[in-house]
Amino acid sequence: MPQIIIDTDPGVDDAIAILMALAAPSVEVAGVTVVGGNVPHARGLRNVLALLDFVGRPGIPVHRGSSRPLAGRFASARHFHGFSGITRRLPDPVTRPAPQRAVDFLAHQLAQRPGELTLAAIGPLTNLARLERQHPGSLSRSAALAVMGGAVDTPGNITPHAEFNFHCDPLAAHEVLNAGVPLTLVDLAACRQVSVTREAAFALKATGTLGRLALEIVQNWFRADERRESMLFYDQIAMAAAFCPEVITTRQVTLAVETEGVAAGASTVAADGGPVALADKVDVERLFALMGACLGWEGV
Ligand code: BDR
Ligand code: CA
Repeated sequence: MPQIIIDTDPGVDDAIAILMALAAPSVEVAGVTVVGGNVPHARGLRNVLALLDFVGRPGIPVHRGSSRPLAGRFASARHFHGFSGITRRLPDPVTRPAPQRAVDFLAHQLAQRPGELTLAAIGPLTNLARLERQHPGSLSRSAALAVMGGAVDTPGNITPHAEFNFHCDPLAAHEVLNAGVPLTLVDLAACRQVSVTREAAFALKATGTLGRLALEIVQNWFRADERRESMLFYDQIAMAAAFCPEVITTRQVTLAVETEGVAAGASTVAADGGPVALADKVDVERLFALMGACLGWEGV
């Protein structure tokens, strides 16, 4: 059974991805590490704890991570994710974050259980870059690493060339891609193959606490802006790839990330880049079937 540590900045799509992993019968979520990004770190931390409390999984350890990128400050994406970050008011969490910081937790877990833990990185890569800086070689002890980030041969979503996660901390993206570890990258070109329309979202039915909450998050995202006609899936695809790699095909490329200037965060195929298995085609039917099965969604 895949054991997954989720590194996240929730975020609407992060929240749905987390719920998917919690609901998947074949997955054990071994911990969650938080990074700033879509929302400030404190809000992301609160969101993870509130989600886990709400769905009755307070035993999963949640660790504070980076509230700032390696250089500069995070730019949040509240225009997309809303003020709360998850479109749904949840009771304040009772559970407290675990005392260990994200980097120490990751280093310890990976050292204790080499080859056993899959990492799903669905926010800026700051925590993972700090892990490699402070504990070199740690990432190579993961069983697999699935990342949502980058925009390869496709326009960016935060600047003309950059995707949000890579743009938030381009230096971290550069360092993780060059850490010399096998990494599966789900970039915007892959994400743009999967969406749900407003009509389809409101036609869906869900069973169970996890599935109903995930569906409410989707529907509330549409309710927040009547001009929204469809919702792209981002982190859900990287999460699916982490525990069901068959949902994507990949091609091996070497990828460079621009670390500064107006093109910061841009990712291009380049001979001197880091090796990644770049998502190519998403098996949309299989992905929806997986999400439907995990979340008890009917009508996907
Ligand atoms: C990515 O950035 C965030 O908005 C999403 O949560 C996703 O991780 C998409 O560019
Ligand atoms: Ca995210």
